[in-house]
Amino acid sequence: MKTLTVSKCKVFSTIIDNIASDKSISHRCAMFSLLSNKPSTIKNFLRGEDTMDSLNIAQKLGAIIDDDGEVIKITPPSNLREPDNILDCGNAGTGMRLYAGLLSGIDGSFVLTGDKYLRSRPMNRVTKPLREIGAKIDGVDEGNKAPLHIRGGKLKSFKYHSPIDSAQVKSALILAGIQSNEISFYKENLLSRDHTERMLNGMGAKIVTNKDGWIEINPITKPLKPLNITVPTDPSSAFFFAVAVAIIPDSKVTLKNVTLNPTRIEAYKVLQQMGAEIEFKEVENIYEPIGNITVKYAPLKAVVVEKNIAWLIDELPALSIAMATARGVSKVKNAKELRVKESDRIKTVVDNLTLCGIETCEFEDGYEVVGGELKSAIVDSFGDHRIAMSFAIAGLKSDMIVKDIDCIDTSFPNFIELLNKIGAGCADKISG
Ligand code: S3P
Repeated sequence: MKTLTVSKCKVFSTIIDNIASDKSISHRCAMFSLLSNKPSTIKNFLRGEDTMDSLNIAQKLGAIIDDDGEVIKITPPSNLREPDNILDCGNAGTGMRLYAGLLSGIDGSFVLTGDKYLRSRPMNRVTKPLREIGAKIDGVDEGNKAPLHIRGGKLKSFKYHSPIDSAQVKSALILAGIQSNEISFYKENLLSRDHTERMLNGMGAKIVTNKDGWIEINPITKPLKPLNITVPTDPSSAFFFAVAVAIIPDSKVTLKNVTLNPTRIEAYKVLQQMGAEIEFKEVENIYEPIGNITVKYAPLKAVVVEKNIAWLIDELPALSIAMATARGVSKVKNAKELRVKESDRIKTVVDNLTLCGIETCEFEDGYEVVGGELKSAIVDSFGDHRIAMSFAIAGLKSDMIVKDIDCIDTSFPNFIELLNKIGAGCADKISG
């Protein structure tokens, strides 16, 4: 288990054009390429552990992967193959939940498993609705926990109003719905990230939202067009550097080629509301708007975050570091989903901020953060990449030791290299 020592950093001003590629889109590239009968070409695929696991699963299902180190060509098999071994999703909830939807409609026997963190996360949010439409799924805790065994086959069409705003649940059901014989309907209360709809429609599927807010999922009757895509920068990964600027006086950063999908940039809007100067510049539109985000330091004031939670759920740990340095009392509410992420992020954020001398209060669905002075501390990542990186960023303000940082590789393999880039002496010690 590696430990990271981060030292206080001076003012910095830079342009970063090599932040990790988008994790959500990369997972989908690996999976959706299986729905075509021609090779897909993927540039800037995220080479993090989570997404490489999804790519390995595509290979075990019969795809041929040609990787020249820059472009990944995925040639799908004519029929997905029943694998001769388990399919390991590693740490990835997205991998497991989306593959559960896809494989439910494929004739064969599939076992999806993952690391100890993933095996403790709830799966009934997808297994329950998938069972209702005919999928045969079993697993630990009556199918709520992995390993999951899926015997795929014919699926019924459905009308499902999801009790949670989750892109993973929505995507699993879309992947099941397109394999049924009739049109299916899916509804969520707040539009969750919509990469699945955008990418599948770009490949020729017909997934449209009607005037009553139901997503109409039309069955696919022939193979989809292949993907030809350059994966944009992940706004959730880039956000760590937005927060770094927001807490280090007079700093500035331009984050290049980030997806500006409105369901992904809400955290930047909150940081803007807190006082940071933020500019979005759209440069192109490939499946979604892509462009540059410039962030300039300005003193921060407290904020209440209680709306559009699905649009910033992944950025809340990093945002809590900005809250810790802001003037006043910030609050996060309606964010119970944080409890079932890679760690219980309400508890892990609150516990670590407390170690850093910040006054906090924990609620069932969020927390309160009293802005003050971040103190040097030894904190744990609890095996959660976003907790590790959030507290590494806090270290730029006051020296920090972050234990168990191996998890950073799941989503952002060059994070430490970039930390070093923004400040001499930052993050130069890794032990263990
Ligand atoms: C993701 C959706 C979100 C997010 C996760 C990636 C996706 O989860 O937290 O990191 O790629 O669909 P939920 O949709 O379950 O909230």
